Amino acid sequence: MFVDSHCHINFEGLADRLPQVLENMRSNAVTHALCVSVDLETLPSVLDIANRFENVYASVGVHPDHEDVKEPSVAELVELAAHPKVVAIGETGLDYYRLGERTLADMEWQRERFRTHIRAAHATMKPLIVHTRAASDDTLRLMEEERAGVPGGVMHCFTEPWPIAERALAQNFYISLSGIVTFKSATEVQEVARRVPIERLLIETDSPYLAPVPFRGKPNEPAYVSHVGRYIAQQRGLADAELGEATTQNFFRLFKIPAAV
Ligand code: NI
Repeated sequence: MFVDSHCHINFEGLADRLPQVLENMRSNAVTHALCVSVDLETLPSVLDIANRFENVYASVGVHPDHEDVKEPSVAELVELAAHPKVVAIGETGLDYYRLGERTLADMEWQRERFRTHIRAAHATMKPLIVHTRAASDDTLRLMEEERAGVPGGVMHCFTEPWPIAERALAQNFYISLSGIVTFKSATEVQEVARRVPIERLLIETDSPYLAPVPFRGKPNEPAYVSHVGRYIAQQRGLADAELGEATTQNFFRLFKIPAAV
């Protein structure tokens, strides 16, 4: 059994065929999924899915890539996180990949937004879902300054080299790997997959993006997290069931979900 710790099944292509998506999870022994919020405008669609399906959970947050959207305050995030199916704050973090003409100084809005999310995580003691791209030093620095390790959380869709993983682990964070780990060229991510302590490892799809091999380039969905899990099990020399059990228990522990659900 596997759990998808990060998906966007409220997005087009998945939202319009949810019963099938959930059925595919069942037939691939994917027992739970966390549907992750990217902005407040689309949060209702995330919460609606979490309300409808017992084994789907939700988060509240605004993605660092989303610029022209409602800027959340700590109080708003805290209030929205009180929903009984909301188990995390995010996704949040820093993304300097699409800087364009701008300098790092121009990205202060991203850093402020990230701090706001970390403060909301402190206030609710719900874990953070952190996105970082081309910004790992600043991401880790802000996490340290705001003591993100107190609520804790997960570095999602992790694609950084091992030393960055070590620094996140030292801050009490989990590491979540997506289908990227199955890509032939992703040798750094494969190294991380072998070295992360098993009790800090999560798996995800980030669907509808990043389908694992053998579905690479096609639309992704939570059922395919089983391919991510099996690939990592092979890398670590573990049985599929062992890897599945460990990452499932990690999911329940981090997001404080009673395992009996
Ligand atoms: Ni995502």
